[in-house]
Amino acid sequence: MKCKGIPSIICSSIMIILLNVCSGSLIASENDIDNKVDEVLSRMTLEEKVGQMTQISLEFISKGYPNTEVPLTLDPERMRKVIVDHHVGSILNVGTHAHTAERWQEIITELQNMAVTQSRLGIPIIYGIDAVHGANYTKDATLFPQSIAMAATWNKDLSRQEGEITAYEVRASGIPWNFNPVLGMGRQPLWPRLWETYGEDPYLASVMGYEYIKGLEGENNTISQNNKVAACMKHYLGYSFPLTGQDRTPAWIPERMLREYFIPPFQAAVDAGISTVMVNSSEINGVPVHSSPFYLKELLFDEMGFEGFVVSDWLDIHNLYQREKVAVDYRDAIKQAVMAGIDMSMVPLDLDFSTILIDLVKKGEVPISRIDEAVRRILKVKFRIGLFDNPYPDPSLLSKVGCEKFSQVNRQAAREAITLLENRDSLLPLNKNARILVTGPTADKLSVLNGGWTITWQGDQEKLYPQGKNTIFEALVHTFGKQNVDYIEYSGDNTTQIVNEAKDKNAVILCLGEQPYCETPGNIKDLSLEQDQIKLAKALYKTNVPVILILVEGRPRIIQEIESSARAILLAYLPGMEGGNAIAEVIAGDFNPCGKLPLTYPRYPNDLTLYDHKVSEDINEFCNYNPQWPFGYGLSYTTFEFSNLSLDKNIMHKGEELKISVTVKNTGKRRGMQVVQLYIGDRVASVTPSHKRLKKFSKIDLEPGESRQVTFLIQEKDLGFIGRDNKPIIEPGDFNVFIGDLQTSFTYK
Ligand code: BGC
Repeated sequence: MKCKGIPSIICSSIMIILLNVCSGSLIASENDIDNKVDEVLSRMTLEEKVGQMTQISLEFISKGYPNTEVPLTLDPERMRKVIVDHHVGSILNVGTHAHTAERWQEIITELQNMAVTQSRLGIPIIYGIDAVHGANYTKDATLFPQSIAMAATWNKDLSRQEGEITAYEVRASGIPWNFNPVLGMGRQPLWPRLWETYGEDPYLASVMGYEYIKGLEGENNTISQNNKVAACMKHYLGYSFPLTGQDRTPAWIPERMLREYFIPPFQAAVDAGISTVMVNSSEINGVPVHSSPFYLKELLFDEMGFEGFVVSDWLDIHNLYQREKVAVDYRDAIKQAVMAGIDMSMVPLDLDFSTILIDLVKKGEVPISRIDEAVRRILKVKFRIGLFDNPYPDPSLLSKVGCEKFSQVNRQAAREAITLLENRDSLLPLNKNARILVTGPTADKLSVLNGGWTITWQGDQEKLYPQGKNTIFEALVHTFGKQNVDYIEYSGDNTTQIVNEAKDKNAVILCLGEQPYCETPGNIKDLSLEQDQIKLAKALYKTNVPVILILVEGRPRIIQEIESSARAILLAYLPGMEGGNAIAEVIAGDFNPCGKLPLTYPRYPNDLTLYDHKVSEDINEFCNYNPQWPFGYGLSYTTFEFSNLSLDKNIMHKGEELKISVTVKNTGKRRGMQVVQLYIGDRVASVTPSHKRLKKFSKIDLEPGESRQVTFLIQEKDLGFIGRDNKPIIEPGDFNVFIGDLQTSFTYK
């Protein structure tokens, strides 16, 4: 078979791949892929194999590196050196800042041309990118709420839709691999990446993560479709729980805790058939995960059943000797990491990795079988994506990037995320004729609504944000009318001016929170909201004009000092590009808020007890779970009544299922959504039980006066826990059931 301009290896692959019909799309069968991978592997030199294990950053092959030029242009000489001479099989990242989807297609086409037509075997590049809240490195793409806010929607359909739209827009940019979702548990609120997680509960994170992955990869993981991408669960394992709260510092997680809380969302991702995994940059119990065969082989492959490939995080093989100090030099670090199970190194800014690894193999220090295993895994994903079939971007996808339909889904996600935490005397919603003063450091910027991973890594380049999107202030002007809304920019020292301006208003909308940050630069030493913001709130309270606090933040900054005098409080998290509009809709009552906290909102910086604490952590006034707001909390403009909590049996025998039902009624005057949350607490167990754990949830939408019965099915595994021997166990005994303000119990025999 002759194919013009396409090397023979691709042509033969087209012939060999037998196509099956699956979910209405064509995918190559797994067996055929295995055969094809073996065939390619048999033709590869050691240098070519090691090249496939190497991932290099886009800026490294762009003009002007290390001061990469803006706008970014590929440097043909550097490209040739990397892709042809060093056989590099993967490129990542944005280089400078977001490109248009069209420009992305040009970049990817240039890279693939080099790989496919200039290298000996013509193996296509797998390009990877961080598209963590939509295609955030594609200009004018649909930028969703960050994951912590998506979790606050408790709406798994929205999570799947986010995945689908992200996949579409990333693939429309010519990129087939997304480094997301973050499935670390958000159980350390200081950690600057908390907002990349789905919050503190493993069940909620598992459900949201599973759906998002299915959205990215397709129900049947049909990642060869031109609107799907390979997902990457990260950062496996334990990265999210640094003891000090500082990014990339040690986690101490006993095995039982690891299995009880940290593994389940990753297991859910493996069960979803996820294609790749990225590794924790740091360590667990003194062992850097990048150097651990236990985490990267035994647990991940042998026990959890993962079938994709393992990519390191940025520079993290270097870090084994430079930072973690478990290796004497780079060579030692490479040997440890590759032997532990790293298949692809996100090097990303030098070519020594491949040179050293080749030498390690030649000297017998790394067996060729390990190299073959890694390359086999990588090639398999490349085949499954369909890169050998067609490595080029699809221009027909371009027209829908950032389209209105996607934006509507995004708006709905932002609406459903927003969590009403206080509404004293039902101040909200505000009458549309109300005269409002808007102020505060997060009132008039798009960057604060989006946070890190937006257009640039830190997300803080306000001038690069799209003109057409609304800040909170702009959206309020649209909703309440120009004549009703005044804005004063908070400069840090103009409190008197703001207070004077507030005096004749019906309400002040005070937008507080955090400026954008990402990863380690977002480290803080104190979870309290900054003092100047606290002072501004206190000064405004003195006017007696009702103050509505809008918290725009990636982690729960402590506001205990100013909470009780706020008339209403909305937590917006990082609600994305439609966040401003959604906030205005909620304030005006055009949307009835329904977000529920996916985390415990602490009251004090040093009391970070989580909702699923042990019974002993909440026994009296000296030792209790006393957060500002508990996990699962969130108000509405309507009221709901829970009744008839009933079980289909009081005794559940081994092997049986249990049906739990409850009736929920909208007893107020507005239509509203409610999240029905089912918690179970084991009364006595051989490992101290948690007071309660989330086991199921369901989101319902009720008209005023409407009731609905919600039924959950509980299985034995929902009663289990990790036992004293670190293995799952289910013990007979009595269990409490909690839904809303109701409680009952049953016995398991
Ligand atoms: C982050 C990863 C990210 C990678 C590539 C690292 O610093 O930890 O989450 O995928 O960079 O941008």
